Amino acid sequence: MRMSFNKRKQARGVKDKDLDNTCLSKNMLSLEGVSLHLGDNVVVNNVSFQVQTGEMLCLLGPSGCGKTSTLRLVAGLDRPNEGIITLGGRVVSSPNKLVAPHKRDVGLLFQDFALFPHLSVSENISYGLVAFSREQNLRRVSELLDRMRLKKHADKYPHMLSGGEQQRVALARALAPGPKLLLLDEPFSGLDTTLREEMAEETLSMLKELGVTAVMVTHDPEEALTMASRIVLMNEGKVIQVGTPKELFRSPSNVFSASFFGRINQIDGVVEGDIVKTDLGAFRNPDLPEGAAAQVLLRPEAFKIVTQSGDDSSPNSLLVCGVQYAGNSSLIRLGIGDWPQPHTHVEVRYPQAAAFDLGDRIPVEIDQDQAFVFLK
Ligand SMILES: Nc1ncnc2c1ncn2[C@@H]1O[C@H](COP(=O)(O)OP(=O)(O)OP(=O)(O)O)[C@@H](O)[C@H]1O
Ligand SMILES: [Mg+2]
Repeated sequence: MRMSFNKRKQARGVKDKDLDNTCLSKNMLSLEGVSLHLGDNVVVNNVSFQVQTGEMLCLLGPSGCGKTSTLRLVAGLDRPNEGIITLGGRVVSSPNKLVAPHKRDVGLLFQDFALFPHLSVSENISYGLVAFSREQNLRRVSELLDRMRLKKHADKYPHMLSGGEQQRVALARALAPGPKLLLLDEPFSGLDTTLREEMAEETLSMLKELGVTAVMVTHDPEEALTMASRIVLMNEGKVIQVGTPKELFRSPSNVFSASFFGRINQIDGVVEGDIVKTDLGAFRNPDLPEGAAAQVLLRPEAFKIVTQSGDDSSPNSLLVCGVQYAGNSSLIRLGIGDWPQPHTHVEVRYPQAAAFDLGDRIPVEIDQDQAFVFLK
């Protein structure tokens, strides 16, 4: 079982007053039991996670779950009510310490990246380089203009640039001082879908090339799955699960995680020894107690329609109740029970345009590895 932060502290013999100067972690960034109270709300609730050097960690979760608030705490824009944040091994935030944002060596790129409208592209990029000599400053700006393919726009003003170009300037500005850590809050949400994917890819390869460690906030599961080395999934101020995209998608640890990455079907069942018995047959019992009410969650992709089989007496021979075309695939609504009023429905992905008629009975196979079983 995880020890509470206080217990770990006690176990190491660390006193409160020592914490400010104690290196608690070799990670680039570490949050330990961090909470933030705003008014009557606990908007960040006992959050702990670590970010390793060079990784792209995504904070993912629904609107209002505390992603931006967590990022603000890391940036030093707010002071936590509880917990400790260390950056590069140095305590930067605790209830009694707050290192100022500009002394954290952290770059920020927020959704409304607000370029200075009265400054040119070059001037925007060089804005944060006050500690650099004039020569260093010019070299750094020229290097970034090159890398970001902005050289021909160097003397333009923000209003003369497209959304994607403005975004690249904002990224260049955030990276200019060579921050240890880059914080990005929904950086692509103002862009249209195509540009958004392009910018996401470009940003990721830029960060990798420069070896920059990053924490990115997004509420888009697909963006997190494609960009993150690891994901911190949050809900209502709390961390729900931390893991690689594959771990979160393939091995969700609870109903929220399983449901967050797209459509999900839910079938009720009862634990009988090694199995959970449902209307869709038996599923492996992960370790639930005998007789417990269980729920089995299945993504539409977990079902395989077996068109060539003539066996419509199997328990998984289901009724076609609706077909929705979705480009190259179809989403088929299948019913369990008798036509015309099946008692339960599931949605199944069929990888081609479906030629089924309503009321057809079709056999399906279910991939057990894509079935997630939890207590009800
Ligand atoms: N200054 C504030 N005072 C009081 N409550 C606040 C304040 N700022 C944010 N909140 C509340 O804190 C909660 C978390 O807000 P936060 O902005 O961190 O969410 P989020 O996950 O970034 O959401 P979104 O995806 O919509 O940006 C919300 O319920 C919000 O209403
Ligand atoms: Mg936000």
